[in-house]
Amino acid sequence: MPRDHEAQRLDRFLAAQLNITRSEAKELIKKRLVTVNGSTARLFDMKIDPDKDIVSSEGRDITYRKYVYIMLNKPAGVVCATKDELSPTVLSLIPPELRRKKLFPAGRLDKDTEGFVFITDDGETAHKMLSPKSHVPKLYYAELEHEAEESYIDRFREGLVIDGGEKCLPAEIEICEDRKKVYITLHEGKYHQVKRMAEAVGNKVVFLKRIKIGGIALDEDLPLGKCREILHKEIVNLYTK
Ligand code: URA
Repeated sequence: MPRDHEAQRLDRFLAAQLNITRSEAKELIKKRLVTVNGSTARLFDMKIDPDKDIVSSEGRDITYRKYVYIMLNKPAGVVCATKDELSPTVLSLIPPELRRKKLFPAGRLDKDTEGFVFITDDGETAHKMLSPKSHVPKLYYAELEHEAEESYIDRFREGLVIDGGEKCLPAEIEICEDRKKVYITLHEGKYHQVKRMAEAVGNKVVFLKRIKIGGIALDEDLPLGKCREILHKEIVNLYTK
């Protein structure tokens, strides 16, 4: 959640908000391209209050964001990691204007899973969202190898035991008219959980997409591989059940 902000050095502010290096930020100041409340800034270490001061660079006001929150529609083949030797990572799909140094995916989808990945540089919000205590529901759309049986509804609700003897929290499954298509809501995030739950009832997931986290749904018109910023005021919806 956005919190109160403290005074910051101007060069640091510019580097973080414009996703440039400190030297590039200093260069902008040196070239007299930065103003604070309408006056040309001259000192790299000038203290500014990001909440109150209007900083502008090359004639454009900078909208201050302490943290960035991003919705990515992850395609298959991309890994939820900050670095990977072999495959592209979700961070490589973030457009330059949203890039920040400390961004990371909060929670993981498998490499072959599509859909909503929440990416942020706000560790506190990510932790809260991921904490089992928060019970933030995650909604998945899955296609199964075999038709879903009516009995799955109770078995999911009662809490399935998946391979290795792990007991899942109660989950919901909604079966579509085409019974190979289901919507599954989980309230926790065990490794390969949807796939292992399908296996526990004798079925198999052939396609998986996460479509909602808490009260925030993946934008239907967000193409695969694209991101959109989640506004600070929308973030409270993450915790809506
Ligand atoms: N469950 C899975 O099996 N895979 C995912 O990527 C997410 C949930």
